[in-house]
Amino acid sequence: MLSKKIEEALNKQLNFEIESAHIYLAMSGYFGDLGLDGFKNFFDVQYEEELAHAKKFMNFIIEKGGRVNITGFESPKNDYESIMEVFKISLEHEREVTARIYDLVDLTKEEREHSTESFLQWFVDEQVEEEATFEDIINKLKLLDGVGTYLLDRELAERTLEEIAE
Ligand code: FEO
Repeated sequence: MLSKKIEEALNKQLNFEIESAHIYLAMSGYFGDLGLDGFKNFFDVQYEEELAHAKKFMNFIIEKGGRVNITGFESPKNDYESIMEVFKISLEHEREVTARIYDLVDLTKEEREHSTESFLQWFVDEQVEEEATFEDIINKLKLLDGVGTYLLDRELAERTLEEIAE
């Protein structure tokens, strides 16, 4: 059983994960337009990852006897000045996700909702990886010229969706 407060907070995060997916899908479209298929692949995978995160929240809410509530979403940004801008916005977005997950953990501690706190630990760990992924690419981009960008595009083409345990 979930308290109303926790149920609402989990639903808010569930919807934010879907909103995150939309943001990354728009970035995939931007790279598709530029003909950078590796960058596009990277964001296609990121889109799938965010949907998987959303499903994790959804399944947990149901498992705990709560009610899922899907809302509308803000239109994502579709146009960017540069490759670097896309990754800087992505990193800022992931930092926002981390802050929201931490707020959720704080709430579960206040409400003594131990099972939800345990569930959220997966996301606390995941966010370390999410932020590091974008930081790493930003650092590479700072060092690159045109040839380097081409090589990074080929590297990002290799990314696949890792199995995410339900
Ligand atoms: Fe679902 Fe990228 O955090």
